[in-house]
Formats: sequence, C-alpha cells, structure tokens
Amino acid sequence: MRGVRFTFPDGSEALRGVDFTIHHGESVGLVGANGAGKSSILLHLAGVYLASEGEVRVGDWPVSRSTLVEVRRRVGLVFQDPDDQLFMPTVFQDVAFGPANQHLPPPEIEQRVGEALAHVGAEHLGQRPSHRLSGGERRAVALATVLALHPDILLLDEPSAGLDPMTRRRLIRWLGSFEHTRIVASHDLDLVLDSCERTLVLAAGRIIADGPTWSLLTDAALLERAGLELPLRLQGSPVTPHR
Ligand SMILES: Nc1ncnc2c1ncn2[C@@H]1O[C@H](COP(=O)(O)OP(=O)(O)OP(=O)(O)O)[C@@H](O)[C@H]1O
Ligand SMILES: [Mg+2]
Repeated sequence: MRGVRFTFPDGSEALRGVDFTIHHGESVGLVGANGAGKSSILLHLAGVYLASEGEVRVGDWPVSRSTLVEVRRRVGLVFQDPDDQLFMPTVFQDVAFGPANQHLPPPEIEQRVGEALAHVGAEHLGQRPSHRLSGGERRAVALATVLALHPDILLLDEPSAGLDPMTRRRLIRWLGSFEHTRIVASHDLDLVLDSCERTLVLAAGRIIADGPTWSLLTDAALLERAGLELPLRLQGSPVTPHR
C-alpha cells in the first residue's frame, strides 16, 4: 500500500495515509483498537474496497476494477463476520463453491473440501446447513471456504474470535505451517505473538509502528498509544489465593 486513504460515503475516514510492503511468505499481524482500520486494510488488499487515494498492489497487479479477477485468484479473505462468507444450503456446498467457480474437476473439488474441513476440525459438519451452526463452527467453516481456494495470500480478520481453546491452538499451529503470505488482524495478541513474525500497529487509520512482533508487543507504552494492552501471557498472572 502506498499513501492509501479511504473515506466511506458517509464521510468516515477509515484510512488516513497507509504505507507498507509485505513480501511473499511473511507472516504479519495487524493490531489496533476497534475502528483503527484493520478490516479496512484487509478489504482493500482483497479488492472489496477500492482506495479513495493512493495505490494498492498485490504482486504485479495494481488493485482496480479491471484487475479484480486476477487479484481475487491470489488473495483469500476470511471476513470478520462469518455470515458474510456462508450462503449455500450446506457446509459442503459452501466450501465447494470457490473451487467449483474455478472449474476444477469434481474429484479435486471433493478432495479440497475434505482437506479444508479437516484443517479446521470440521469434517463432521459437511452435510449441516451453514446457518445452523454455532458461532465458532461458522468461523471454522468460513476459514475452510478460503483454504479450499489454495490462496497465495491469506487474509484473516479476527480468526480466533469465538473459537474454543483447542480449535484456537490448532489454528495457531496451522498458521505457523502455512508457507505463503499471511496477514492476521486480531485483538488476540497472544495469537499474533505465536503466529506472526512481523506486526503493524494501527491507530486512527495510520500505521504507528511496523516491526518484529516480539519487540512491538512487549512495548507497553506503544500499545497504550494504540489503545491496547500487553498480550495476556506477558501480563503476569495475578493468582487469587484460596481463602
Ligand atoms: N460501512 C461503514 N460505513 C461507515 N464507516 C465505517 C464503515 N465500516 C467501518 N467504518 C469506520 O471506518 C473506521 C475503520 O473501521 P474498521 O472496520 O476498518 O476498523 P477495525 O480496526 O477493523 O475495528 P474492529 O476491531 O472493531 O473490527 C471506523 O472509524 C469505522 O467506524
Ligand atoms: Mg475489524
């Protein structure tokens, strides 16, 4: 992104001049308070929003109306709200939708669906209606719909919200093994610490820090400026003694 500004039609300024470059294979956390602009950045990288000013490039492609097909072939975005991602009658059909749109042969579609559901521990949900799942199950299935596309660049918006501890841990392990580019917007700073080498800290539509995750997420003063706190793991654990 180069000098990216984005203003919603109602006048809300979501991004106020954002600059960064991410290279292939990097794992990058995107952190900041509510409304800081995390989702707006991901939605620009996936070509859902088009910048009001400045330039967004994905690989060799400038993101614009005429390149959306190329951009979306490479970029997989898991939305913050899984209901934005799931719309078919069953989980299987939701996960198969993207690969089917790429005109893959049916046996390969079936294989991709099986693998993607297995990655998120949701094999048993294939025949269920997506809209009748628990919140965490819906989030897992939303992630599977994107994994089935084998994206070069994976964008995750709050992937661990609502996940139980085992499923969250599986997600962290899986993120560590994903060798392509990952960009993870999250309030779960422990997840960012575990799965992202680099972090961008956002405040009010601007990047206020960009560097190694460990050095930024241990900087209490910086986090406070961004409306954040140290990751739980680094806060010490005030154990309440039994009385
Ligand atoms: N549809 C919309 N119309 C108008 N303003 C919006 C809209 N969506 C977001 N905004 C505004 O844009 C700014 C950035 O929002 P964004 O969703 O990118 O924040 P975020 O960092 O993802 O926050 P959260 O942690 O709550 O998900 C906020 O000020 C927000 O109020
Ligand atoms: Mg958001």
